[in-house]
Order: sequence, then structure tokens, then C-alpha cells
Amino acid sequence: MLEWDPGPPPAFANHFENRPNYTPWKKRFRMAWGPIFYRGRLDGSAKVIVIGQDPATDEDVARRTLVGDAGQKVQGFLSKLGLVRSYAMVNTFLYGLKGQADTEARQISSAPAIKAWRNTLLDMVATPQTQAVLAFGASAQQVIDLWPNGHNFFVARLTHPSARDTAALLQNWNQSLPALRQRVTPDAGGTPSNTTYGTSFKPSDIVRIPARDLPFGVPQWRGSGDTAARTKGKDAITWMPTAAEG
Ligand code: URA
Repeated sequence: MLEWDPGPPPAFANHFENRPNYTPWKKRFRMAWGPIFYRGRLDGSAKVIVIGQDPATDEDVARRTLVGDAGQKVQGFLSKLGLVRSYAMVNTFLYGLKGQADTEARQISSAPAIKAWRNTLLDMVATPQTQAVLAFGASAQQVIDLWPNGHNFFVARLTHPSARDTAALLQNWNQSLPALRQRVTPDAGGTPSNTTYGTSFKPSDIVRIPARDLPFGVPQWRGSGDTAARTKGKDAITWMPTAAEG
């Protein structure tokens, strides 16, 4: 039987319901598809916490963080460490950011309501068994700097998976792997690998999002490929299946 994400435990659901109000900054966010909160284990079993920037179209559709192209690259990074389940992912922002992660975005991220709510979430996700925090991109690294508890963990400051210069991005990921391999215990069923990245992503570096990270009943092709795109200038999203079932 396929394992699906059962949804957030009550304490998390409660915190999610009490999310901060982004309306004062609504010009900077795509709020029509609602907030996207997390992906992975919120049951205290996460050994690694992943922090990203903001949800894009695939995340809007799947209702989970980091499931599209960027997420599948992060999944490949986790699989090199032998992780197939013991991680939890959150973003800097609950809604898709319009435009660049600029000075204004940094100010929004550090606004008291946004910062305090996110710090509480991180405190809830972190446990004594947290072995590392992976901060992908400058926004995520700011999140670490704004999180008082952040200095209690080993933090890997990583280039965002969507960065344009792929060769530089993969060099950065390669540099961080040895220290992470020393700290992170592989999952049962995971196969850690000692291979490094080349100068571009190979198909095997991009790993499918497991059903256990997705809500019950999504189609089989969900979690692979880049399937959703925004209609230019609109809130509509076109979502194309990559293959029929059966
Ligand atoms: N999708 C996310 O959820 N976060 C990112 O940082 C990028 C894509």
C-alpha cells in the first residue's frame, strides 16, 4: 500500500490556522492560491530541516513545499545523504513572492509578525535529533539569521536550486556534502552515495517526490516533471499531466 502524508498533527494544524496576515504586503505576493505550509515529517522524526524561499505553481497545486523542479533537485540532494523520509521542509514565505528577493522582501521576512510565526514553526519542527538545517538561497539564510534557536544547529548555507549558474550552484552543493555526510544518518531504505555533482544536473540528480510527502490521492505522475505553469499576468495555473495512469 502506498504511504501518503496524513497531514499536519494538531499542534501544527493549529499553528498553520494562526498564520500571519500577509495582506499588508499583498502587492508582493500571489495570494489567490492560499498559503503553502510544509512538506515532510512533522511528527518529530525529521533529522534534517530544509528551508526554501517561496512556493511556485507546482507547490500551489500540490499543496506542499518544494515539489516542482527545484524540489526534485533538493530531493536528489537529500537522496545523496541517504534520506528518503526523515526531513521536514518549510519556506521563508507562505505565498509565492512576486519579483526578486530584494530589500523589500528581506524587510517583509523580518517583519515582527512574519518572523515570530516562522520562528515558532521552526522551533516546533526542530527536535533534539535534528542533525542539520539546509538553507537554500539568500532568503532561507536570512531566516536562519533571524531564528534565535538557529545557532544551536549545524547549518549548511546552500545555493538555491533555481540559481541561474548551475555549475556554481553544484560546486556549492558539492562543497557542503562532506560535512553533511558526517552528520546526517541515512534512513533505513535510503542509499547514501559518495558521488559528487558535475557541472549540470543529470537526470539521476533530479529525484521524484515520494507519495508519503503528498496528500492522499494525487495522480501517479505528481511529484515528477515540471507540470504546472502560471498564465501570464493572471492568477490562473495550467496543470498538465505528464502521463496518463494505467
Ligand atoms: N518551491 C518552493 O516551495 N520553495 C522554493 O524555494 C522554490 C520552489
